[in-house]
Amino acid sequence: MGNRFENEQSVPKGAGKRLIIILVSIILLFQLITIDKTNPPYDKKDQIQAPKPIMNILKRSCWDCHSNDTIWPWYANIAPFSWTISRHVKVGRQYVNFSIWNTYTPEQKDKKLTAIYKSVHTAMPLSSYTQIHKKAILTKQDRDMLRSWTGKSPF
Ligand code: HEC
Repeated sequence: MGNRFENEQSVPKGAGKRLIIILVSIILLFQLITIDKTNPPYDKKDQIQAPKPIMNILKRSCWDCHSNDTIWPWYANIAPFSWTISRHVKVGRQYVNFSIWNTYTPEQKDKKLTAIYKSVHTAMPLSSYTQIHKKAILTKQDRDMLRSWTGKSPF
């Protein structure tokens, strides 16, 4: 009889080690896929102008993805996080870029303001971001201020 584990087929010695080596190699290979972490220059006069309290909220909660002044965290250098972060910034800038706000046409601005009105309710800032950047979480007061600044209404 003996120990019942004796008969069980055990994982060959060294397999765990090999698995770890393979995983580490994959993660290292990931690092070869680099990303664009650019903060393109822009003309200060194109940056959005809003009352100070609004600017403070935008800078605190939106700036990293919706401006050309992104503060890239250290983990933005590490794949696979780097891929997600750079995609968020790239796509975020495509939707709304506060650094080049004044290059938008009045119609574009109008649409974006409506989108801001809607998105600050729940979608923005992205929750994956606020989990790490607690300061970016919008309070009800922040949301109300942003919404009334957009001049939009739910109807
Ligand atoms: C972590 C990055 C990130 C942050 C921070 C962030 N956004 Fe976004 N934003 C995105 C991405 C990515 C998109 C593209 C659409 C999507 O993924 O939902 C987007 C889309 C938008 C849109 C367009 C939505 C549409 O449907 O047209 C608006 C408006 C917007 N964001 C406003 C804001 C505002 C206002 C803040 C700050 C309160 C903010 N975002 C913070 C990443 C971010």
